Amino acid sequence: MFGDNEQVAPAAWAAIQARTIALGFDMPSEANTGSLLRLLAASKPGGRMLELGTGTGLATAWLLDGLSAAASLVSVDVDPVVQDVAREALKDDRLRFVLADGLDYVMAQPPGSFDLIFADAWPGKYEALDHTLALLKRGGLYVIDDMLPQPNWPEGHQTRVDALVSDLRARPDLTMVSMGWASGLIVAAKG
Ligand SMILES: C[S@@+](CC[C@H](N)C(=O)[O-])C[C@H]1O[C@@H](n2cnc3c(N)ncnc32)[C@H](O)[C@@H]1O
Repeated sequence: MFGDNEQVAPAAWAAIQARTIALGFDMPSEANTGSLLRLLAASKPGGRMLELGTGTGLATAWLLDGLSAAASLVSVDVDPVVQDVAREALKDDRLRFVLADGLDYVMAQPPGSFDLIFADAWPGKYEALDHTLALLKRGGLYVIDDMLPQPNWPEGHQTRVDALVSDLRARPDLTMVSMGWASGLIVAAKG
């Protein structure tokens, strides 16, 4: 069906999806989110990409599939059990997994060091937003999903989402689009 991008998923994606279901991991990124991430990664040849929140590697697989030969991707998660699924399925010299708290990782990076950040954990989204956005180069892309109500949202989460959207909209250094696509995406470019 038009608009369903699962059929053009990277080779490793189906196996990761099966492991994700078997593990009962309930925060996976959707294929349509992944397909957009792949496109955005491909728009940054030679770029440095960062994913905060590897999970089992579903979005990592799409991002990796969009990397040019000279590009690279760092994917950070605090949970070794889920990240190990990604480590086993995705072996590539351009990809580095970091087992760490995303907040610690963000705070340790120099400003202007990434071309694309997919912030899919609390750090980078609901924590340390300013620091995370400072990691983007000029023209760099910031991507977040789960902006539309999700069954696994904790109580009161809509208020946090609304505050995040207003913060992003109010920033003079960002040009952003909010999209009713997949779980609800925001893509913003740093000016
Ligand atoms: C929404 S899931 C990520 C989904 C993944 N990107 C995908 O494509 O399926 C959020 C992930 O953030 C991780 N996480 C939670 N708190 C974290 C933290 N403080 N630092 C790094 N990762 C964290 C969780 O272990 C979980 O795997």
